[in-house]
Amino acid sequence: MDTFCLTYHGWDPKEQKLREALCTLGNGYLGTRGAAEENSNNEFNYPGTYIAGGYNRAKTEIAGRTLENEDLVNFPNWLCLSFRPEGGEWLNLEETEVLDYEQKLEMKKGILTRKFRIKDPHYRITSIESRRLVSMKDMHLAGIQWNFTPENWSGDIEIRTALDGTVINNNVARYRELENRHLKPLYSEVIDKDVILLLVRTAQSDITMAQAARTRIYTQEKKQLKTTVSSHQKDKYIEQVLGFHAEEGKKYTIEKVAAIYTSRDPSISEPSLEARKDIQRAGPFSEMLEKQQDAYQFLWHRADIGISGNKKVQQLVRLHIFHNLQTISPNTIPLDVGVPSRGLHGEAYRGHVFWDELYIFPYFNLRFPEITRSLLMYRYYRLDEARYAAKKEGYKGAMFPWQSGSNGREESQVIHLNPKSGNWIPDNTHLQRHVNAAIAYNIWNYYLTTEDRLFLSHYGAEIFLSIARFWAGKAKYNRDRDRYEIHHVVGPDEYHTSYPDSGEHGLKNNAYTNVMTAWVLQKALEILDLIEKSRKEELLLHLAIDEKELSLWKKISKKIFVPFIKDGIINQFEGYEQLQEFPWEEYREKYGDIQRLDRVLESEGNSPNTYKASKQADVLMLFYVFSKEELHTIFHHLGYEFKEDHIRQNIEYYKERTSHGSTLSRFVFSWVLSKYDKKQSWKNFKALLISDFEDIQGGTTPEGIHLGAMAGSLDLIQRNFAGLSIRDDALWIDPKLPDSIEEISLCINYRNHRICFTAGHEKLRIAFEEGWSDKMNIGVRDAIHEFNRGEMREFHLGLGTENNKD
Ligand code: BGC
Repeated sequence: MDTFCLTYHGWDPKEQKLREALCTLGNGYLGTRGAAEENSNNEFNYPGTYIAGGYNRAKTEIAGRTLENEDLVNFPNWLCLSFRPEGGEWLNLEETEVLDYEQKLEMKKGILTRKFRIKDPHYRITSIESRRLVSMKDMHLAGIQWNFTPENWSGDIEIRTALDGTVINNNVARYRELENRHLKPLYSEVIDKDVILLLVRTAQSDITMAQAARTRIYTQEKKQLKTTVSSHQKDKYIEQVLGFHAEEGKKYTIEKVAAIYTSRDPSISEPSLEARKDIQRAGPFSEMLEKQQDAYQFLWHRADIGISGNKKVQQLVRLHIFHNLQTISPNTIPLDVGVPSRGLHGEAYRGHVFWDELYIFPYFNLRFPEITRSLLMYRYYRLDEARYAAKKEGYKGAMFPWQSGSNGREESQVIHLNPKSGNWIPDNTHLQRHVNAAIAYNIWNYYLTTEDRLFLSHYGAEIFLSIARFWAGKAKYNRDRDRYEIHHVVGPDEYHTSYPDSGEHGLKNNAYTNVMTAWVLQKALEILDLIEKSRKEELLLHLAIDEKELSLWKKISKKIFVPFIKDGIINQFEGYEQLQEFPWEEYREKYGDIQRLDRVLESEGNSPNTYKASKQADVLMLFYVFSKEELHTIFHHLGYEFKEDHIRQNIEYYKERTSHGSTLSRFVFSWVLSKYDKKQSWKNFKALLISDFEDIQGGTTPEGIHLGAMAGSLDLIQRNFAGLSIRDDALWIDPKLPDSIEEISLCINYRNHRICFTAGHEKLRIAFEEGWSDKMNIGVRDAIHEFNRGEMREFHLGLGTENNKD
């Protein structure tokens, strides 16, 4: 088994849309699903092409109101490539006899191959080997190469190559009642005998996209073939049909190269000018292939995580790394975009940016911190919008949206369709204000990993203080309790958005939100002491924060209310303890899969608000976000008793009450269980690893991969299994490998030092490969060791001692 490959054997139309999502190729700027190039959108084929940050807003009249949604636009399909033999039909695997079919994602090189042999009604057998890439090196280029052999026939054939802007956003069935036409025609042109150009513009956001495509045909002797050419154009569509005489047994190579630009791109004059220029300069496919391999070699050098002793885990880990890099890569840095939770792989959640960065950044911080920095800047550039949102609700500071898109406005839908019942129901999940805390937490952890003081004092601190200020305003003093409380919020568990039979939205004192608030306020004060004195003065003046306000932050950070049920069991929110227990077994028997309990209950006229039943980890998030030492400090600071044993009790309590309706839940459960119940932790890890690969939610992966869950699995390996932790003083490692894995090897970039680890059950090898300083401290188990640059050492884990020195 090649663990850098994902191979599918056999043509299976029903599985095709899942394969497409998992075979998406991207480069952090552009993503194209692994759809068949010969087909447009049909029952088993959905060719989606997305651009990072390529959104458009559209209005729809529905359920008696006008809704406005912002969607990640499905841009023109550049793949279109087909053939037709004389007297035959255009290639369509559904309507011809497929003799062999193999589809392979070659992750090491960033290439998708499809090999198939078909027999038409005239017994003509043809073989096609298709290779496709979206260039990681030249982010505006993509290409397809076909090796085409008429095995037992000769005759005239036609090759059709097109750019198709007639596409709509049609990937997610439950969005189909909403306006899904986002593209307007602009212009098309045959530029040269082998080059076509298409220009479209998004209807509201006015993003112009230019695509130029060059198609050439070569003989087996690598000579360019002279073909007949005809072209056809209609609104948003242009095609060329190239004709030639094919001879039995000969191989013909057809190469289509596309150049893609939008008016959002930095450093350009105008999209069509740039696309024309690039297509003229683009080399042959073989040259693109070479560059692609080089680019991927460098990426994998930083990104790979090696797993010995379990090939399946290794393959899926690489699949998760690969799809993270398709969505965010070094190409993303100049783009002013956030992380779409479903990648550039599909249209679920409309390409919006949620809090999933919390799960994604830990992997990137330790390998591509320059990318995380740019993704944090996406938030900085939208700080004013967040300030406006806070002000509109009567708060100071900044209130970032639960769902973010182009300009940082709240993009959450106000009603959504339950596909199970066909009802449009109110959606109050936007009350998840904890997204603010996640942004602050991400800033701090980026700083901790990189020591990037420039970022912290200039951008990070400003966002952080603005978030702290929001929380201080949101927290209200309750005299009876002598505690501060936060009302009208929703926690990470989206199944609870209000109290049963209450007309009001939101909940009181979600424990996770309250503890995060205490942390944010305390950390904000620490950051002020960390940055330069002059910058501190500048910021306080600029944000008009005075001593009185700072002392209020301090007070609130010590007096936030945290609800408990009993004996250390944290109450998910105030009043949760009074909800009914949910009859899990009865519902499992009745419905089988009840991950999406919200839909099941709504279709029965009921609601999860009635029950102690959560979609995903909520309270347990605290044990993921903070170490037990950190939690102990926070609770102590708040004046609550918190013992380590409480963690286990909370896990036991909430484990019984969670449906895992979000893939993120498996990640958190695997994480928190790892110290208490290795078997259950591994079970959750396995469910996390296969969640997209096997589409365990039954139909969600074809609508886009789950980037948070994918990156989370990588973070579990590095911080939990390999035991990496970053504390103020040093980088620490304390491996605790699951039994099913023999060895983990990975390299990280820690504060500009490249350090490689190989961790087994008995031994640990650490190499300080290169870095900005000559020496560095690395903690193994509980002792610090000083390493020189270029040094490699081995430790015996059983005894916690050093084995030898090089
Ligand atoms: C989860 C959220 C998550 C979102 C996007 C939802 O199903 O409940 O926590 O942010 O998906 O991934």
